[in-house]
Amino acid sequence: MASCDEVRQLKKEHTRSLSMCGHVGFESLPDQLVDRSIEQGFCFNILCVGETGIGKSTLINTLFNTHFEELESSHFYPCVRLRAQTYELQESNVRLKLTIVNTVGFGDQINKEDSYQPIVDYIDDQFEAYLQEELKIKRALFNYHDSRIHVCLYFIAPTGHSLRTLDLLTMKSLDSKVNIIPLIAKADTISKSELQKFKMKLMSELVINGVQIYQFPTDDDTTAKINGAMNGHLPFAVVGSMDEIKVGNKMVKGRQYPWGIVQVENENHCDFVKLREMLICTNMEDLREQTHMRHYELYRRCKLQEMGFADMGPENKPLSLQETYEAKRHEFCGERQRKEEQMKQMFVQRVKEKEAILKEAERELQAKFEHLKRLHQEERMKLEDRRRVLEEESIAFAKRKATCELFPNQSFLTAAEQHSIPSPSTNIFKSSGLILKTVWLDNCFYFSQFPS
Ligand code: GTP
Ligand code: MG
Repeated sequence: MASCDEVRQLKKEHTRSLSMCGHVGFESLPDQLVDRSIEQGFCFNILCVGETGIGKSTLINTLFNTHFEELESSHFYPCVRLRAQTYELQESNVRLKLTIVNTVGFGDQINKEDSYQPIVDYIDDQFEAYLQEELKIKRALFNYHDSRIHVCLYFIAPTGHSLRTLDLLTMKSLDSKVNIIPLIAKADTISKSELQKFKMKLMSELVINGVQIYQFPTDDDTTAKINGAMNGHLPFAVVGSMDEIKVGNKMVKGRQYPWGIVQVENENHCDFVKLREMLICTNMEDLREQTHMRHYELYRRCKLQEMGFADMGPENKPLSLQETYEAKRHEFCGERQRKEEQMKQMFVQRVKEKEAILKEAERELQAKFEHLKRLHQEERMKLEDRRRVLEEESIAFAKRKATCELFPNQSFLTAAEQHSIPSPSTNIFKSSGLILKTVWLDNCFYFSQFPS
């Protein structure tokens, strides 16, 4: 069986090149594409990641030369939130739907994981929404509001030291999901020589830690040179300001200090122009394309694989969607059957266990019953004996009583008083001139004069 590449190659070999005898008109296809794109408009989504008050909003305002309404954030949010706002902009006849997503409360929490995880989740959520739209039977991708993030402007504090752990962790967890452009914020607060050293240090730290930042593409001849040169200026050191200050005889955007003016658009002062040029004028389309072709593709691939889809089956055989579905269904049915079997076995096992417990309890109860029955039997026998003794005593008493009534003048001793009197049961005593006859009867000695 031929592989996909081999099939493609075969098809190519079977395609013949022909020259035409005159004008047909499909040369206007690129123009048609341009017209359609202009009519449709464009969308671009920027994510600004940086600590509270680092200059995110000011820079975005300066980049697009407008005042986007923005609220100041507080440093006391319990967790990081993402705030997205969409704007419609127009330059000449080109309409741009611009979404600015700002991190709110970034870096203000003690737990660092809490800071970057909401950003990762936000980016994934936008990919997921797009994937769900793509998987729908009735898709509306033509007028779908694509909220996938095309670029992440990562604002680094101008410390002159090194990257913070939070910066590294965040960039590392975002680099496979979004095009990251690192920026040194408020670059007017760091000296020129310190800035150069800082830039080099940041770049080497990014390389050492394996953080992939966005590289301006060098595969297109028209932009290869400028893009290649700009890659060497990363991370861009930027200054933002919407203030118009008079320098010479013209008004410029800048920041006025007691010792002078920092001009935002002066390349000797900062890299703002480089950023605007690269981000908006030269590579906006590449950023959009990279988002779709690289980052979204990766997300989609992982997600579909997670769901059990694959292009190749066992033995490297190409699999159609239908075959994948059938295989998945088969697998699912097998799994269900296995689970049912497992549950049945578990049920039988549980019933057996329960039965054994009940039998044991029954056995214990039976033993207890037997024991109690035996005790009861013993008790009954004891009582029977006692009853017999009492009856005998009662008969004896009656006899004694009768004897007493017969011999009213004679005395008797109880058995207890007669321990010293020997057996046999009838004895003759001589006492006080009288001859006594004793009779041992029913635990008592009876005395009578002899002869009576
Ligand atoms: P939050 O949205 O509240 O997190 O703040 P932010 O990051 O959007 O910062 P914002 O743009 O509101 O700027 C905060 C302060 O920093 C303001 O006083 C700005 O004037 C000042 N600022 C902004 N950009 C620069 C800059 O490039 N250099 C200097 N020195 N200050 C700046
Ligand atoms: Mg802001």
